[in-house]
Amino acid sequence: MAGLRGQTAIVTGAARGIGEAFARRLVAEGCNLTVTDRLERVRAVGDELGATTVLGDVADPAHVWEAVGRTVDVYGSIDILVNNAGEAWATGPNDDWDRAAADYERIFGSNTKGAFLFGRAVAPIMAAGGGGNIVNVSTDHVKPGPGCDRLHGHGGMDLYNASKWALNGLTFDWARSLADSGIRVNNLCMGATETEMLRRVLGPKPDPAYQATWMQPEQTAQILVELLQEGSAGRTADSIGLYAGEPSVMPPPE
Ligand SMILES: NC(=O)c1ccc[n+]([C@@H]2O[C@H](COP(=O)([O-])OP(=O)(O)OC[C@H]3O[C@@H](n4cnc5c(N)ncnc54)[C@H](O)[C@@H]3O)[C@@H](O)[C@H]2O)c1
Repeated sequence: MAGLRGQTAIVTGAARGIGEAFARRLVAEGCNLTVTDRLERVRAVGDELGATTVLGDVADPAHVWEAVGRTVDVYGSIDILVNNAGEAWATGPNDDWDRAAADYERIFGSNTKGAFLFGRAVAPIMAAGGGGNIVNVSTDHVKPGPGCDRLHGHGGMDLYNASKWALNGLTFDWARSLADSGIRVNNLCMGATETEMLRRVLGPKPDPAYQATWMQPEQTAQILVELLQEGSAGRTADSIGLYAGEPSVMPPPE
């Protein structure tokens, strides 16, 4: 088990929810941290954790460059990138044309382009430092849990689903392309986790029986840490499924 103390991490989308839980846990493990988000609240999170904070949109190359540059300036290296920022709302093939085009830009910008830009920016820095970890935050819509059907059981979010499937292309290509540089690249594919995103998607009165199964962000943070602690010999190109209502344990590598 590799310790994380002294490693430098970037967590995107850390103003709240799962990203905030990742940030808190990585600092508790002794990491140097940069947090980013487009919400002002990320400043309070960063200040409390003693992290470097960069406000901006992950789909904006200038923001990505600034976040990565400041991290190197402050800490001298980057060992861990957690591409967590993302957003979701209902979309589908019968949506209004103009709305659909705008939804595509926004959802793919946050969920796919942001991960792409951050990955591109950090890979040479990690490689120069001898290796690292890139973790792309995906969803169980991409890696369906027990009992899901062939269509993965989640209609009504076509752009969200497509944007997260697109992460597979980055994850699997980068895992292969960056293996010789000692960089591991994996997907975290969690199911329903209690955050503002989930509450917005499901509305004000979610089914109480379903709600009782939701994971807490801290459980996902535990799995993130276990993934990172695998060290340089750990898994790469894996999609780690975590499912609401199932035990939250690290599955063996596939
Ligand atoms: N909550 C769930 O049930 C669930 C399930 C599967 C996957 N996920 C994934 O987990 C990740 C975190 O989601 P969450 O549930 O904590 O949501 P959340 O809405 O609570 O937090 C997401 C954070 O990302 C930030 N963000 C979004 N788009 C951004 C952008 N373009 N630039 C900068 N910041 C941006 C938001 O401002 C917010 O602070 C997302 O990638 C989401 O798709 C969540």
